[in-house]
Amino acid sequence: MTAPVSSQTTTPAAPLAESLLALVAQHGTGRSALLPVLIGLHAERHQITDEAMQLVAEQLGIAPVEVQGVVTFYHFLSNEPAGRHEIHVCRTISCALGGMSAVVRRMENETGVKMGETTPDGSVSIDWANCIGLCDQPPAILADRHAYGKVTPDEIAELIASFRN
Ligand code: FES
Repeated sequence: MTAPVSSQTTTPAAPLAESLLALVAQHGTGRSALLPVLIGLHAERHQITDEAMQLVAEQLGIAPVEVQGVVTFYHFLSNEPAGRHEIHVCRTISCALGGMSAVVRRMENETGVKMGETTPDGSVSIDWANCIGLCDQPPAILADRHAYGKVTPDEIAELIASFRN
């Protein structure tokens, strides 16, 4: 598995308004702040609720439907509760032909859940992603927003074990 090509820290969840104000202070209130604010909220809370979308819209001075559009567009943002750790597997052509199926089978065996589901203990969610830009390194995944290429079934098993400890 190649080294992550992006990073995002996770911090303990604070009250929603407090988290949001901290993110707005960090990223500003312009439209360009929308995505980093949503990524920060999701990293802390593992879900962007309707209430959160409304508050983000108010803070950034944009329509709630714009916030909802961004949340529903990106696979790493979700209106539904996700696990404390999230793994997304690229299902686009290069990865589909480059070993994706074996990785997915191992993920489902190791977690005991199907793609799109969360383990009963809330530790791990597994789901699909579209191309994440590592087409030359299939199969590729996003794990807690870190991108990895050339992932093997054994490596995905190790990653899941580390997330469940
Ligand atoms: S096709 Fe999988 S990362 Fe692009």
